[in-house]
Amino acid sequence: MSSPAVESPLPLKPMVLVEPSTKQRPRNVELMNDWQYVERAIHRLLAAWGRDVAEWDNKSALHRHIWDQAECVRRLRERIEQFPGGRPDAPVSAQLETLANAVLLAPSLEDALDGIYELLLKTLVSAYGEYIGNVHPIHDAPTIALLHEINQIKSQQWLWYRNYRRLTPHTTDAAYRARVTARLEACGSFRAPLPITAGAEAQPAGVNTDFRLSRFSARNVAIRPKQPFMDYVRADFATNLEARRLFWAFGYMLEKNLPDDQLAWLYYGHYMPWAWQHIISRHLWDESRHGDSGYSRLRDFGISLEDVGFSGYDQAARDTELKAVAEKMGITVDEAYARQQELLAPFKAEPTTKAQLYEHVFMIGLVAETGHFVVKNEGYVDFKEGQDLQSAEMMLFDIIDETAHVQYAHQWLPMLAEFAGVDNSGYRERGVKIREESQVRAIATAKELDRVLSRTTGDASFDFYQDLLARIRVACPLTNATTCPPRSPKPM
Ligand SMILES: [Fe+2]
Ligand SMILES: [Fe+2]
Repeated sequence: MSSPAVESPLPLKPMVLVEPSTKQRPRNVELMNDWQYVERAIHRLLAAWGRDVAEWDNKSALHRHIWDQAECVRRLRERIEQFPGGRPDAPVSAQLETLANAVLLAPSLEDALDGIYELLLKTLVSAYGEYIGNVHPIHDAPTIALLHEINQIKSQQWLWYRNYRRLTPHTTDAAYRARVTARLEACGSFRAPLPITAGAEAQPAGVNTDFRLSRFSARNVAIRPKQPFMDYVRADFATNLEARRLFWAFGYMLEKNLPDDQLAWLYYGHYMPWAWQHIISRHLWDESRHGDSGYSRLRDFGISLEDVGFSGYDQAARDTELKAVAEKMGITVDEAYARQQELLAPFKAEPTTKAQLYEHVFMIGLVAETGHFVVKNEGYVDFKEGQDLQSAEMMLFDIIDETAHVQYAHQWLPMLAEFAGVDNSGYRERGVKIREESQVRAIATAKELDRVLSRTTGDASFDFYQDLLARIRVACPLTNATTCPPRSPKPM
C-alpha cells in the first residue's frame, strides 16, 4: 500500500480563501500585499547595510540579492494585479513596518545579516511553503507557481548566507534577536493578512528611523595601487592599445563602486514608484557584474586588487578623511591607509536629497554612460581585431547593458526632477555641454601628463606600469598591439 502523501497530492482539507464576507477578492490578495511589503523591506534592508559588506565576492552576492528581491517583489505585484481590485501599493499594517525597522536597527552588520537572512527569510519561506501545502492546488495554482519560484531564489540566498556564516562565525546579539523574534510573532509569521488600522499604514522600512548608511563602501583590500600607474594610462590612452586594455580591465573593476552608490539611490529614493526601484535594481546588478568582468580580466592577466588598489570613485574624500584621522591619532598616513577598513567604518552618509538623486542619475546616465560609447566601441573592435576575444566580449556585453541604462535615465529624469523641484528642460543639451567640457579637460590632462611623466627605467611608477603591461602581454598578446592606429581620447 502506498503512503497517503503519494496517493493524494491534494491537501486533505485545503485552506479556503473565501469567507462569508468576501466579495470579489479572495483572502490571499491581502496576504500577498503583506508578503510584498516584507520582500520590499528586505530589498531596503540590503540597500541599507550593503555598503558595509567588505569582501569582493560578498559584495557581488549582496548586489545580486538586490536584483533577486526586486524580482520577488515583481512576481508578487503582478499576481496581486491579476485579482479584481488588487492593488500592489495598497496599504498594509504598520506592524510590518515596526518589524522591518526592528531588523534594520541592528547593532552591527553581522546582526543585520542574521536578521535578514535567518529570521526574516526563513520565516517567509516557511509561510510560503505552508501556503503552498494548504491552499487548493488547482484554484490558486498561479500563486503556488510563483511562490515556488520565489522559494527557489530564497534557497540560493540562504545557501550564500549559510556559507558566509561558516566563514564568518557570529552569535546574534541576544537582545536584537529577541526584539526581532517578538515582532515576527506579533506579525503572525506572515501566515494570515494583518488587519490595517486606518491612518496607521506601514511606511517603507527605515523612513521613520534615524538609520544612516555608511558613507564609504567597505573593502578589505588596499585602496591605493602599489604605484600610481593610472597617470600613464591617461597619457597613453589614445595612442596605445595595450594601455587601453589595462584601462578597461581596471576601469570595469572599479565599476564595483557604482552599485554601492546605487544602494543609497534605492534607500533614499523610496518616494519613487516601484517601476523605478525595479530598473535601478537591475542597473545596480549590471554594474556589479561589470565590476566582476573587470576583476576577472585582471586576474586572467595575473593582476591582483593589491597590485592596482580597489579605490572608490570617492577616493579624494577617503584620502581627506584618512589624513585627518592620521593626524588626530598621531599615526602616519601609510598606517591610516593600512587600517582604512577600520578607520573609515564609523563615517555615516548624509541622506541623499531629491535634488542630489536627480543629479546622480543625470551624471551617470547623461555624462558617464553616454560619454563612453565611442571609446568602448573602439575597444570592442580593436580587441576583437587583436584576437583578445574575452576582452572584446567584456566590452560588448557592457555596451549592451549601458545602452539600456542610458534609456533608464531618459525615462526617469522627468519624474526625478519633478520630485526634486528642479528644471529638467534642456537636460540633453546640458549633458552635451558637460561632456564637451570634460573632453577638453581630459585631453589637456593627458597632454600635460605626457609632458611631465618620467619614462625612465628605474623610476618605480614607470617600471610598475611597464610590468603591468608586460604581464598582460604574456597572458594574452594582442596581434595588433603595434599596428593599431591612434583612437579617440579618453572622454573624462
Ligand atoms: Fe557599467
Ligand atoms: Fe551603466
